[in-house]
Amino acid sequence: MTLSKDPLLQPYRLKHLTLKNRIMSTSHEPAYSEDGMPKDRYRLYHLEKAKGGMALTMTAGSAIVSEDSPPAFGNLYAYSDEIVPWLRNIADDCHEHGCAVMIQLTHLGRRTGWNKGDWLPVLSASPVREPAHRAFPKEIEDWDIERIVGDYAAAAQRMQAAGLDGIEFEAYGHLMDGFWSPATNRREDEFGGSLDNRLRFSDMVLDAVRKAVGPDFIVGIRMAADEDWDIGLSREEGVEIARRLADSGKVDFLNIIRGHIDHDAHLTKVIPIQGMAASPHLDFAGDVRAATKFPVFHAARIADVATARHAIAEGKLDMVGMTRAHIADPHIVRKIEEGREAQIRPCVGATYCLDRIYEGGGALCIHNAATGREATIPHVISKSPGPRRKAVVVGAGPSGLEAARVLAERGHAVEVLEATGEAGGQILLAARNPRRRELVGIVDWRLAELERLGVPIHYNVFAGGDDVLALDPDLVVIATGGIAQNPELEAGDDLVVSSWDIIAGAVKPEGPVLLYDDNGAHSGMTAAELIAKAGVELEVVSPERFFAPEIGGMNHVPYAKAFAERNVRVTINTRLKAVRRDGNALVATLGSDFSADASAERRVAQVVVEHGTMPMADLYFELKPLSRNLGAVDYKALIRQENPIQPRNPEGTFDLFRIGDAVHSRNIHAGIYDAMRYGVLF
Ligand SMILES: Cc1cc2nc3c(=O)[nH]c(=O)nc-3n(C[C@H](O)[C@H](O)[C@H](O)COP(=O)(O)O)c2cc1C
Ligand code: SF4
Repeated sequence: MTLSKDPLLQPYRLKHLTLKNRIMSTSHEPAYSEDGMPKDRYRLYHLEKAKGGMALTMTAGSAIVSEDSPPAFGNLYAYSDEIVPWLRNIADDCHEHGCAVMIQLTHLGRRTGWNKGDWLPVLSASPVREPAHRAFPKEIEDWDIERIVGDYAAAAQRMQAAGLDGIEFEAYGHLMDGFWSPATNRREDEFGGSLDNRLRFSDMVLDAVRKAVGPDFIVGIRMAADEDWDIGLSREEGVEIARRLADSGKVDFLNIIRGHIDHDAHLTKVIPIQGMAASPHLDFAGDVRAATKFPVFHAARIADVATARHAIAEGKLDMVGMTRAHIADPHIVRKIEEGREAQIRPCVGATYCLDRIYEGGGALCIHNAATGREATIPHVISKSPGPRRKAVVVGAGPSGLEAARVLAERGHAVEVLEATGEAGGQILLAARNPRRRELVGIVDWRLAELERLGVPIHYNVFAGGDDVLALDPDLVVIATGGIAQNPELEAGDDLVVSSWDIIAGAVKPEGPVLLYDDNGAHSGMTAAELIAKAGVELEVVSPERFFAPEIGGMNHVPYAKAFAERNVRVTINTRLKAVRRDGNALVATLGSDFSADASAERRVAQVVVEHGTMPMADLYFELKPLSRNLGAVDYKALIRQENPIQPRNPEGTFDLFRIGDAVHSRNIHAGIYDAMRYGVLF
């Protein structure tokens, strides 16, 4: 066996620990915890990355060391002894695959809410509110400091007892750096003012931790070395802190962050989403490495292997974090090693993963349905033990392409029929927003996989029942998608245009525009963004409590930015009732769900509406009586991941089911999950 010369595949020695290559996943809380514990879902998630060849997985994100650091997004309870065996299981499993396991520990300080966990008061260096989590923290007292320093040390000891390879402390936007930053430390005692004073708390923590875990255990710190904030930690002070930590002998690596995170708009600069610059802080992290001559880790939208390789080859980093990249594809390293780089499923930066943890769910990848579902959905699809089926998939949108891919991986003979001349369905529409163009990666990756698997796509076939039957299938998947529908109006249905008309460029925006969105997802907001950026006067009207409720905090930022910069008026709690023509203008009548008496009018040139999609299911209903199962699906069996299709019609010659928006208006992930969860059962 020849040894690879790929810089990414070279081992790295950190103290006594040899990391087998240079690729890591930085800590991120996927909100898979159960009662604050990393149980099976958590373990399988990290195990998959270990199987995929990663050298180091930094578990948790912000595992909390104290009870008065209430969990803000499913954080693990590092303050509890109960966590030790759960973490030991993860460490043991990952170690079997040669993957090192560490964990990020923190006290969230002001970056949480008081009405969570044990309802204990939220605290910070000074009583400065954090807008993102909305608590007004109390100023930390002497007895809090004593207690929390002890909590850090005890938590570190627990991690050591669990057999982890090391820990890192979180010091950007949390309690530790709350002391460092002039933006959040207004103290006049020995913990405020000079840099020595502001470093006193973290010094106390590190001293206590070292005393608890000894000199050999690996301890790092993930820190903002420049808050990029006029009132925050300057680059000079930040790099000075990094230098002092490196020289202190108390830490073994620095994981470098640039920016601050007290508001979603700022968070997207630290964790850029699609349409934002790639690897924006890589050079800065390299500068810190040069200034400190110390091991430096870093992650921020280094989503592709070429950039990661450059980061290591050029000596900017010692370990490169590809965190969301591994949420999209946990087998990156294995594919590099096997010369299959082209098969890596790309992270398209949609940040559905991160947005979901604040929307009450676990992290899910927009186009990898297996992530976070490792217990039931495989990342590597095995061949079917059953008979080889002849499958016809109708529709080459994301759901249809995924169904074709999964069925072909299972070994079935698959053909795809697509009504238009191009694959991609609604993704092509979404990607017309220049900022979201990367979404096309979802389509391109699948097209490349289908080519590899030898699956033909027949374009420009608006399939009727005969077209499908002519292929003599024994399995038919309807993935025909949906079409924009109007909301119910008392009058004027014929006077409005849809968000799709605007996005597709079929209708040019003419101001003033009233855009009514009672769906609350990307399509309405994309139309609004395109209208606003065309310089057209716009009012967005929503019947909801806040606009675009289906869009999470990170994805909200670019829309809100476009609206703020273009003076877009946003009106909530308001419903579009009717539209009428008046001369050259349209008059929109608005009402309220809260009062029958409320009424207002807007005189505009154009009314654009967004009300989700209506399924294009004619073909499904045409084929339904001819199918073996009459279209019926046993959902209980589907949930158990057992064959959900039972025969009901002895005359039927094929099994039939529909997926994605051909069933009802949903999103990309739902369609891809449908395709996967059915596909692997055949
Ligand atoms: C779902 C999710 C949760 C995260 N939670 C944390 C966290 O608790 N602590 C932390 O330091 N970083 C957290 N991050 C940030 C990641 O560690 C990483 O810095 C970020 O995703 C940028 O790297 P990437 O572009 O390689 O994904 C989180 C990221 C994601 C996607
Ligand atoms: S949801 Fe988007 S950003 Fe997150 S891992 Fe998947 S592709 Fe990447």
